[in-house]
Formats: sequence, C-alpha cells, structure tokens
Amino acid sequence: MIRSVVTGVGGYLPEEILTNADLARFVDTSDEWIRERTGIRQRHRAAPDQAASDLAVEAARKALEAAGRSPAEVDLIIVATTTPDLTFPAVATIVQRKLGCPVGVAFDVQAVCSGFVYALSTADGFVARGRSKCALVIGAETMTRLMDWSDRGTCVLFGDGAGAVVIEPGEGRGDASDRGLLGFALRADGTKQDLLYVDGGVSTNGQIGHLRMQGNQVFKHAVINISEAVTAAAEDAGVGIPDVDWFIPHQANQRILNGVASRLGLDESKVISTVAEHANTSAASIPLALAQGIADGRVRRGQLLLLEAMGGGLTWGACALRL
Ligand code: UT7
Repeated sequence: MIRSVVTGVGGYLPEEILTNADLARFVDTSDEWIRERTGIRQRHRAAPDQAASDLAVEAARKALEAAGRSPAEVDLIIVATTTPDLTFPAVATIVQRKLGCPVGVAFDVQAVCSGFVYALSTADGFVARGRSKCALVIGAETMTRLMDWSDRGTCVLFGDGAGAVVIEPGEGRGDASDRGLLGFALRADGTKQDLLYVDGGVSTNGQIGHLRMQGNQVFKHAVINISEAVTAAAEDAGVGIPDVDWFIPHQANQRILNGVASRLGLDESKVISTVAEHANTSAASIPLALAQGIADGRVRRGQLLLLEAMGGGLTWGACALRL
C-alpha cells in the first residue's frame, strides 16, 4: 500500500525575541508567574513587514532541502494558519508564488492550534491515494498580531513562527512497521466556541479582532480530550502507547504537556518540549518542535512519533507516524 512519508522537516522563528521580563514592562505580569503557570520563558515576534507567508516560505525551504526536493517538484501545498496574510487568497497560494512552485493544488486549513494535525490528515488523503507526489504541509502563524496587549491572561502565552514538512508516497506493508502517517483521530466540538475565539471577523464586525480565552476552562478540556484522541490515533495506527519513541505535542502550556503525558503513562523524558523558548505558536508549534527534535539529534528516521493538538473551536486531534 502507499503510505504518506515525511521526508523533510524545517522550522523558522523570527529574529525578535520577547522575554517575560520584556512583557512585564508593559503588562501587569511577572517572569515568575508566567514560568510557574506555563513554562514559557520567551516568545518570538515577526517583524512588522513579515507576514505568515514569509515565515512559511523560510520553513518550507528548509524542509525541501532536508528532503532533497526542489520547489519545482511540489504539487500540493497545505498551510494550516489562523493568521493569514490576507482574507484571501490562501497563504498556500502566496507560498506557491514566492517559492516558484508550478501550478498544482494549494489551499489553507483553519483549525486554529489543531490545524497542523488536520492538515497532515488532509495531505494523507492526497498522497496515499496517489494524487500528490510531493506535498508541503506547513503550519505558519503570526499570533502576536491577534493579541490584546492589555489582557495578561492571553498576551503572555503566544508567539510567532512556522514549521513545515515534505510528504511523499512510499511503499508500505500496511502494518505499523511502515514509515509514514499511520493513524489519526480528529475531533471538533462547536458548542465550546466561547472558551477560545477571536472577537472579530469579515462577516461580523469587519475587524481583525483579538484572541479571547477562558484559560482555566480550556485547560480542563485539554488534558482529558487530548489523551482520548492520542489513544484513538495510536489504536488507528495499530501501535501501543509504550511503543512510542517521542511524544510531540502542541506547545500551549508545560503543565498540559505533563498532564497528558502522565495520563497516557508516558515518561516525561519522551516529550519534546519547546514551550519555554517558542511559547504557543498555534498551528506552527508541532512542526517547530519536530524540527527542533530532529536538529538536536533526538528524533530520528524510523522512530514512532505521536503528535497532538487542541485549539479554538474547540478542535483537537492526534496523529501517529513513523518518521
Ligand atoms: O493553544 C490553545 C489552547 N490553549 C491552552 O491550552 C491554554 C490553556 N490554559 C492555560 O494554559 C492556563 O489556564 C493559563 C496559563 C491561561 C492560566 O493559568 P491558570 O492557572 O488557569 O490561571 P487562572 O486563569 O485561573 O488565573 C489565576 C490568577 C488570576 O488571578 P486571581 O483572580 O486569582 O487574583 C489571574 O488574574 O492568575 C492571574 N493571572 C495572571 N497573573 C500574572 C492571569 N494571567 C496572569 C499573568 N500574570 N499573565
């Protein structure tokens, strides 16, 4: 059978770093509170002239280089983003133009922080059915543009960045020893919209709006729901949680990462955490953490990975893959 194999990974973080101390100069917060409650020490912020597509292009170039592919070979681009350059066209088509990719398929996926997992599943539908030979799946966000800088409950949590993977078809035997995307569990519950949303939009008030969150409510849902989805994705893949080499979660809060790992019975040494340096980069956080794990030599080809995320909607989901 054809499997969708991740053949290259890349990440990009904008140059400017905002530390907790930097924020404490203009928000009623402290480095101590942010570190204790979230694990975050700093976040990156895109320059005023950098749009989501600029971050995406940087990450995509690195992923293509790692895969040994050129932009000319890319026939599918999916960008998971909640902070697009423009209302339309999709960031994916802007990335296609900037990279110089040929005419192909390009579109965005909007599932907020879960966007990358949703986009991977969507790409799997193309690659595993023989409809794409070289796909780029990107998570790219400029979350700092959605912040209300007077709301200390949210503005300290988010950062900007992008991560990308190249996905290509590969022959598999149809069991869990195959390389590729092995299993998914995607979930959404629109009744929980009020817990996490942006109070602006094209067809409502015509504003970009600001991110609003009932953090402690989201927190409660996160640990329980994510654990269920991770277990379901592992089952879908035919693997057991103890078989997992690396757990690569969406990076929202170190306490959520630890809570989910503990609920799943996963040792914390198997968790890739970048929340301290990157903060929550929404759809970009999983591919950025994956890129970090590969760059520092922990995550290697052939290993079994579990990815998971939860975000506005509420949406959540998980993916089991062998690199
Ligand atoms: O990626 C999308 C998914 N998002 C998440 O997963 C986020 C989930 N939620 C969280 O990570 C946590 O709920 C937060 C980090 C947002 C908040 O932590 P918490 O332990 O749930 O705190 P809380 O909201 O219950 O607030 C506790 C106290 C409050 O003060 P009082 O009412 O007890 O006096 C807040 O006003 O902490 C206060 N507070 C702050 N103090 C200093 C809230 N934000 C801050 C802050 N600095 N930045």
